[in-house]
Amino acid sequence: MQKRFFLLFLLALLCTAASSQGMWIPSLLEKQNEKEMKALGLKLSADDIYAPAHSSIKDAICQFDGGCTGEMISPEGLLLTNHHCGFDAIQQLSTLENNFVENGYWAKNRSSELPAEGVTAMFVSRIEDVTLVVLQGITDGMAERERQSQIDKNIASLKSSTKKEKWEDIEVRPFYNGNQYYMFITQTFKDVRFVGAPPSSIGKFGADTDNWVWPRHTGDFSIFRVYADKDNHPAAYSKDNKPYQPGHFLPISLDGADEGDFSMVYGFPGATNEYLTEAAIRQTGEVLDPARVAIRDRALKVMDGFMRKDPAVKISYVARYASIANAWKKWLGEMQGLKTYKAFDKKAAYEAEFTKRIQQNPDWNTRYKNLLPRLRQLYKDIEPYALGRDYYLETMIRNNEILGTVSGLGSWINGYDPKNETEFVNKMSRVKAGLEGFYEDYHPQVDEAVLAAMMEMYGENARAEWGAADVKKMAGEAGGYAKLAKNIFEQSVFAQKSKIMTILETKKPAEVAEALRNDPAFKLWDKLQGYYNTQIQGKLQELQPQINLLQRQYMAAQMEVFKEKKFFPDANSTLRLTYGKIKGFSPKDAVQYEFQTDLDGVMEKYIPGDYEFDVPQKLIDLWKTKDYGQYATADGRMPVACIGTNHTTGGNSGSPALDANGNLIGLNFDRVWEGTMSDLNYDPAICRNIMVDSRYILFIVDKYGGAGYLLNEMKLVKGKKKKKK
Ligand code: ARG
Ligand code: GLU
Repeated sequence: MQKRFFLLFLLALLCTAASSQGMWIPSLLEKQNEKEMKALGLKLSADDIYAPAHSSIKDAICQFDGGCTGEMISPEGLLLTNHHCGFDAIQQLSTLENNFVENGYWAKNRSSELPAEGVTAMFVSRIEDVTLVVLQGITDGMAERERQSQIDKNIASLKSSTKKEKWEDIEVRPFYNGNQYYMFITQTFKDVRFVGAPPSSIGKFGADTDNWVWPRHTGDFSIFRVYADKDNHPAAYSKDNKPYQPGHFLPISLDGADEGDFSMVYGFPGATNEYLTEAAIRQTGEVLDPARVAIRDRALKVMDGFMRKDPAVKISYVARYASIANAWKKWLGEMQGLKTYKAFDKKAAYEAEFTKRIQQNPDWNTRYKNLLPRLRQLYKDIEPYALGRDYYLETMIRNNEILGTVSGLGSWINGYDPKNETEFVNKMSRVKAGLEGFYEDYHPQVDEAVLAAMMEMYGENARAEWGAADVKKMAGEAGGYAKLAKNIFEQSVFAQKSKIMTILETKKPAEVAEALRNDPAFKLWDKLQGYYNTQIQGKLQELQPQINLLQRQYMAAQMEVFKEKKFFPDANSTLRLTYGKIKGFSPKDAVQYEFQTDLDGVMEKYIPGDYEFDVPQKLIDLWKTKDYGQYATADGRMPVACIGTNHTTGGNSGSPALDANGNLIGLNFDRVWEGTMSDLNYDPAICRNIMVDSRYILFIVDKYGGAGYLLNEMKLVKGKKKKKK
């Protein structure tokens, strides 16, 4: 009986989860969400948020530089995104004399806005459901490959017959695991210029220690401007380009957000997997995440040891460390969250209900009864190979610079053909340019120690037939993993820029190929990659399509069997809207997290001279004099960040958080650690997105940066609601 109640309780949980969960397709809001959003407090209509034919909030939202989100905050193309999203551009524009990463930057006028080469801003003109066209001629019995080639053909002819302007692009993407298809007509601006950013001590405050964590005090924002040609269309950089005039720009709220307020986040979430089976998420949470976390743990500890001893290493490795640590910490949060918040039990209860329902319907039963058992079996079958893939990629490629670099050059080196050298020779300049970049921040003594640790993890923990036996034997012969790494670094030309560059610059192609093929780092990679290709990849290529097929069927079955439930499609880097409330949470028994942090909290964390927690003097002065101007809360505090129940994921960085009237109240940049499992199992009790408060952004631009003139082109709104005191 107890168990039964528990199941009922879990089902009840599943149903309530629906209220905040979801990343919705903007063109379907009226049908799917408008009523609920209004009940939660929205004052706008679905048409105000997305409209293909007239201007709407959608026109203010863009995908920033391929992986983040940005938004228009002025009629003249001013773009707001995260500091960590603009970071590469900021770093590339920095010089020793003008270090914008360190000191920040504020363009005093249009002519001091700095072209950020390669940075793009992509806007969506319209979204269309093209499922029927794309799936034309597709039948149930079709083999997967045949199915895909029919779909590719349909997409190609759809693209060529769709009307679009010549500056627009078309993309067609699968939704609901390939059960539906949507078409996006987009325009991508390529002249994007850097306008301003705070110093890293504000924009990255708390760095890796605070990453993924609430309470948070990071001013994670940067400002760019989008430029267009004389007709307001995308164009390559030209000094004659003009600021882009978007169809809509976001007013910025001076009221900020209060606990319980409606909020919505509009952006480009990257990837979620909310509809997998218990077997699948167990594999991630109990097998793959722990392995990846353990490997990165090792690599990070080695790097950290060197970074603490040597400031030069610290400068070179800080970005690399942050990126390795970002996923490491997320996976750790995810595996713990899945366990703590009973995600596996919830999935099991859901599957039990699914099975019960299909058993009551003979048609469903014939069509669906094999789905779950077969998926369970396939996940069991694929597990060792999925683990093998992660083990190989994590130890030998991703966390290891020398083998990572060699692997990038692997097909070039192996592809050398004495009878036809042109291809090899043609690629040479690109190879050299890539290596130039690589060695800029390379410290071989760090990488040697990382390689030793990674080889040890592979040799001791991976399966013998994946090459682990070879690695172990090599280490035995060398006198240990450290010694083996030392030998490789002494002999490999990749360990030193001068060695590899001399070879590339002075030797004939045949000699280059010969030298590189005999290089010990290359030989190690080549051997392991060979094992990977024969022992792991083939199996993955055999099993993964079978899983994909069944998952597609299971997705369709869930939508049919749980008719009462609203299903949003998993994130796939397309434009989505998510909504919820500004709300604190309880991470564990007797602990309650408030919804908002403030500048006093920054000062509580202040550690003079520390690379993560230093605070610039000017900010300290503003805090001491409480010089917060119109940006203070009603009770005189300077709000810094807040959290809400909006369902977000990677890619939502830089997304605007909007209030019920569509005013910008925050800038999304992270999630709370306890809730990072939300990519697999969103739980409204503990999953929260983290936003920089819009007032902190304005305060930093104006009072700290002295760039108040930028505010002249923005629209600041106040007084929409009475402040409770
Ligand atoms: N966790 C955030 C995201 O996934 C922020 C990452 C950047 N910050 C950092 N300390 N690495 O992208
Ligand atoms: N920081 C993430 C990003 O860059 C957003 C946080 C998340 O994963 O929710 O997209």
